Amino acid sequence: MNPKPPLYRDYIESNFKDYREYQRRALSQEPEMTKFLKKLLPCWLNTELPYRLLDIGCGNGNTCFHLNSQHPHWYYVGVDVVSGLIEDGRHLFSNIENLRLEVADAHYLESFSEEPFDVVLMWRVLQGLENWKQALRSAYSITKPGGHLIISTLLNDADVDLSIIMRDYSASGDIKDVTLRIFSEAQFRAYCMELGVQTVTFEKFNMPIALPRPERGLNTYTVDLMEGNKIQLAGGALVDHWKIAHIIKGDLTDANN
Ligand SMILES: C[S@@+](CC[C@H](N)C(=O)[O-])C[C@H]1O[C@@H](n2cnc3c(N)ncnc32)[C@H](O)[C@@H]1O
Repeated sequence: MNPKPPLYRDYIESNFKDYREYQRRALSQEPEMTKFLKKLLPCWLNTELPYRLLDIGCGNGNTCFHLNSQHPHWYYVGVDVVSGLIEDGRHLFSNIENLRLEVADAHYLESFSEEPFDVVLMWRVLQGLENWKQALRSAYSITKPGGHLIISTLLNDADVDLSIIMRDYSASGDIKDVTLRIFSEAQFRAYCMELGVQTVTFEKFNMPIALPRPERGLNTYTVDLMEGNKIQLAGGALVDHWKIAHIIKGDLTDANN
């Protein structure tokens, strides 16, 4: 029998203080991928509408915080399985009335809310989960018919799934192992079709700035290639496969469910 792969959530719980700091830094230093999302949203949505957005695996809620600066008329709900991050976010954003943060597991959101969401976000989450198909199904179930499910994750051009077990010797907690998955884009697309999506498209995310190699840990850094291009690495592993999947939920399929 295969041993259970080490989970990202366990690594975060075990190294909580460091991870909380890392998440807090994302408030003052807006992540480049969030800036990219802000550019994509007006191409995909009528951003003037008063959307309800669910951010699954929201950490401390930093993505909602940055989106709110552009779309203050939206209502945001963030969920994460690590309760300490949710508590920290509630403390940090206690003055933001249109943001609610709750503890919930991405795999079991079917009955999270009576009203489905216009926009559902899974931002840098899927690649660290136990069961990506279950989590995708769960996110899809809580997306409104005709609504948008937006996922940033690692998607491979080859018809191959990768699981990388990283051991972070510099981690201060007892749990130093974590699994990072890179999915086959073809398989991801095929599963979306099984779910009955209307459309799924992919945008490659190229890191626009140079990120220095961290002294320790798993944070992403860049290495320069020729002609100004860069590749992204984390803990020495190539993680240059970040893509944003934009899924539109089919109206008809949902009506039949
Ligand atoms: C790489 S972080 C991304 C956090 C945030 N989306 C961001 O972009 O800063 C992955 C997040 O997924 C959360 N997570 C891991 N397993 C989860 C699960 N089963 N359900 C919900 N959240 C989970 C982690 O606690 C962590 O906050």
